Formats: sequence, structure tokens, C-alpha cells
Amino acid sequence: METEWKNHNRDRTHYGFEEKEKKWQGPYFFIQAADCQLGLIQRYLEKNPTPGWQQEIALTKLAVEKINKMNQKPKFFVICGDLCDAFPAKEPALRAEQEKDLKDILSRLDPSVPLVCVCGNHDVGDQPTKQDLLSYQSSFGDDFYSFWCGGVFHIVVNSQFWFDSTLVQEEAEKQDQWLEEQLRILKTSEAKFGLIFQHIPWFLSDYEEEATVYFTLRPEIRQKWLPKFREAGVKAVFCGHYHRNAGGFFEDLEMVTTTAIGAQLGSDESGMRIVKVLSDSVEHEYFPFEKFPDSVQL
Ligand SMILES: [Fe+2]
Repeated sequence: METEWKNHNRDRTHYGFEEKEKKWQGPYFFIQAADCQLGLIQRYLEKNPTPGWQQEIALTKLAVEKINKMNQKPKFFVICGDLCDAFPAKEPALRAEQEKDLKDILSRLDPSVPLVCVCGNHDVGDQPTKQDLLSYQSSFGDDFYSFWCGGVFHIVVNSQFWFDSTLVQEEAEKQDQWLEEQLRILKTSEAKFGLIFQHIPWFLSDYEEEATVYFTLRPEIRQKWLPKFREAGVKAVFCGHYHRNAGGFFEDLEMVTTTAIGAQLGSDESGMRIVKVLSDSVEHEYFPFEKFPDSVQL
């Protein structure tokens, strides 16, 4: 079962999917989670000055075990950012230890389930530098890319560019242009629809809500991109970052925020979301690990 860690997301795509994935083959499901964030519980919740992440190790192992135990395997497992807690630029040695432990665990995922990594603010810094991006890419692959799966077009973005791109304006511009092109592909292809994965939510429950300083993207960016997403055929955007479950709609475009595998900042329990992709809709349900099912009815 154990395999070596490999970066499958490079050259702006993900190599875990085959060419036939461009075609719809019937309903499928995948697992979405966020913020395994090795190190946050002890550093932030427990204010323990000794670095440690045994609790996140146990929870992330549980995530992998639950997926490996499923009777029918998901099409993929996506983790929407904050893979580890230590900022790469501030604490490189600690970060390296956390990444090593995380990769050891994630390498045990059943090889038939592609792992889809998304970068979070703790993976590239709140105000990323070029070096932060390079260090993420060398560890986990591209920070933005797209792939086909089951006739649906999936787009992974680096939401940190929309949070603060002061030090990486060229790269942020590159992602924006690339994203416009992905939306054009989605709109002009035979995709059933599109799905987007990112770390920071566009909004928590209401498109019109005020921006929070930390947990959502600024309204002017929301107003620029969400109408474009909708117009191109994006059905839902899946996020993390909030460490609580949340969600809402912008017209018929759904915003889904999933709580953490690791540290909880609200009353949710650690777990993962099962997302069913049906011929013209997306259904999803969050399960704490304790209640995570072995099988999924499509
Ligand atoms: Fe986080």
C-alpha cells in the first residue's frame, strides 16, 4: 500500500488522471478536506512553546485510513490548503520536519486515489515571496493547475495571490491570465461544468457580506471573479481556511467551506466532505471521522 511521495501536479496539470477523463462516464464522487496543518493545535490552540504535531499526525492518518477502507474508492482526494503550519520562510527547519511527516502519511493513500494538493496561506506565507512559491512548488508541485475528471473540468488556484500579491505581482498576473484561459476552455468545451479548489473562501455565507480581515477575499476581487466563474459554467468552489464548515450561494454558484482535518476553531469535529458529482448537480455532505461512511450511494 505504501508508495513513495511524488508530485503529480506539474506543467499546470495533474498526472493522476487519464485522457479518457475528458468524457462523462456517469456519476462519481471525490473527497474534499482542508487544513491538516501539522503544528497548529499545539502552537495556537494549546499555546505550547514546544513544537509538536502528534495530534494532526493522528488525524491525518485517520483521513487516509478512512479513504483506504472505502468499498468504492473516490475519484480523488483534494486537500484545500494549509498542508502544514510552519511558514516556509520564517521557520524552514520546522517546516521541513512537518512536510516530511505529512508526506509519510499521505504516501500511504491507496494508489488508486490521486491526491490533489492546494496551497494555503501557511504553505506560501500570508504575503508570499517568489522564494515561498518556489519552495512550495519544489515540495508539492504547481500552485495552480487544472485537470479533467469524469467529464468535469477542475481548476486549482493559489488564492494567496488575491489576498496579498505585493511581492509577487508578476506571478499573480500570470495566474489571472491563466485562469481567464481556463474559464474560456471550460466555456467552450463539452465539460459538464467546472469545479474550483482554493484555500481562502470568497465569502462565508453571503455574496454581499463584508470582507473579514483574514477569513475571506476582498469584495472587489469577489465581484470581479465570481460572475466570470458563473458565466463560464463553474458550479461550485471548494475552500478551507476557516477551520469551520460554512457555505452559501452566489446565484447558482455554490461556495463550500470545509472545516479542518486538524485544529478546529468552532464547534465542528475533524473530518472530510464527500462530494457527489451527478449529471447536472453536485451534492456534498461533511462527515466527522467518527461518522465517515465506508460506502457512498451515487
Ligand atoms: Fe489553516
